[in-house]
Amino acid sequence: MILCSCNVITRAMIIETAQKLAAERPGRPVTPAQVFRELKVKAQCTVCFPVIRAVFVEAGLPFTCPEPLATEADLTERGERPGEVVRFDRVKRMR
Ligand code: FES
Repeated sequence: MILCSCNVITRAMIIETAQKLAAERPGRPVTPAQVFRELKVKAQCTVCFPVIRAVFVEAGLPFTCPEPLATEADLTERGERPGEVVRFDRVKRMR
């Protein structure tokens, strides 16, 4: 299945590349831009980025979210530290 129509990148290519990057840098999040760089293509419209992040989640890979999941005040109110890495399963519970 093609996930990035601008560059004709398939889901399998994204998962394979993301897993390779995650293995090279254990514990570090993988981003769509890193995958594109590794595949030697350029992001054009970036419409595919949210879907690619969802694929990272499905594959159990660490990922980053471009939008803040909570403000600093929200975190303080919940007794959490700003800058803390939040696992995806916790994000689901926070909603
Ligand atoms: S669909 Fe991926 S950059 Fe446009």
